[in-house]
Amino acid sequence: MSDNMSPEEAAISEVRLKKGLKTQTWGRGMFEIHDRLDSTNRRAREMAMAGADEGTVVLAETQTAGRGRLGRSWHSPSGQGLYFSVIVHPQFSVERLSLLTPAAALGAMEAVSRFSGYTPRIKWPNDLLLDGRKIAGLLTEMEFHGRAPKFAVLGLGINVNLKKDDLPPEIAERAGSLAMISGRVWDRTGLLAVLLAEMEDAYLSLVNGFTAQLVQRFRQACETLGARVRIAQGKNVLEGLAVDIDAAGRLVVEQAGRFIHVNAGEVTLVRQ
Ligand code: BTN
Repeated sequence: MSDNMSPEEAAISEVRLKKGLKTQTWGRGMFEIHDRLDSTNRRAREMAMAGADEGTVVLAETQTAGRGRLGRSWHSPSGQGLYFSVIVHPQFSVERLSLLTPAAALGAMEAVSRFSGYTPRIKWPNDLLLDGRKIAGLLTEMEFHGRAPKFAVLGLGINVNLKKDDLPPEIAERAGSLAMISGRVWDRTGLLAVLLAEMEDAYLSLVNGFTAQLVQRFRQACETLGARVRIAQGKNVLEGLAVDIDAAGRLVVEQAGRFIHVNAGEVTLVRQ
């Protein structure tokens, strides 16, 4: 960081990050910081294939082909957000794997809350919202040995210091940032340290089998519960009332007296 630059303006500092890092493994070993990369998830996957350890982190100041869910892209303007991916090697059963993304979302939500005092809500399955606007999204990509998980890449994109003008028109109505909500800029290195700690903590809860507690915490943070929702899964569209999150992290939707457990899809809240 140069002398006249505040932490809020500066690039991510690995030295400062490591001083403030309170994790067990995440970010303690291999840690790549790129000025520019196509996608941190793509790079992390490549590293995992080559044998990178649990807790390896890849971060980029900007991504030229940041990946979102459902084949979308993730807008990643330079120096304004946090775009990073973590490699994990889940040793637990396939049944528990469905809680990986909810656990990471919960950890990210708690980190933003602890760091900034602004507590996001979670839009099932993996978006963080502040004042109803999306400020962050998670993309989990997995590789299997037969039915057993070989590794997973957890990728988080969070709009930290983006201003309204930094958002492309097609998402400007729905997206926001921590800076837009709070009216101030934030130290991204400080936030990153807290994100890694809280996301690792939630992940370790899953590793250690505290699944019921995780699901209960997720229910409490989940904006989607109690709302009428429309869920698009390919050509199928389901509409109903979101009534619960089940033990596997699926959204339970009531439609004409039937309870449907949904494990993926694009959720729209239906205004009434
Ligand atoms: C979504 O909401 O659609 C998920 C967005 C995930 C974006 C992050 S940015 C860091 C990581 N690398 C990627 O290419 N994507 C994820």
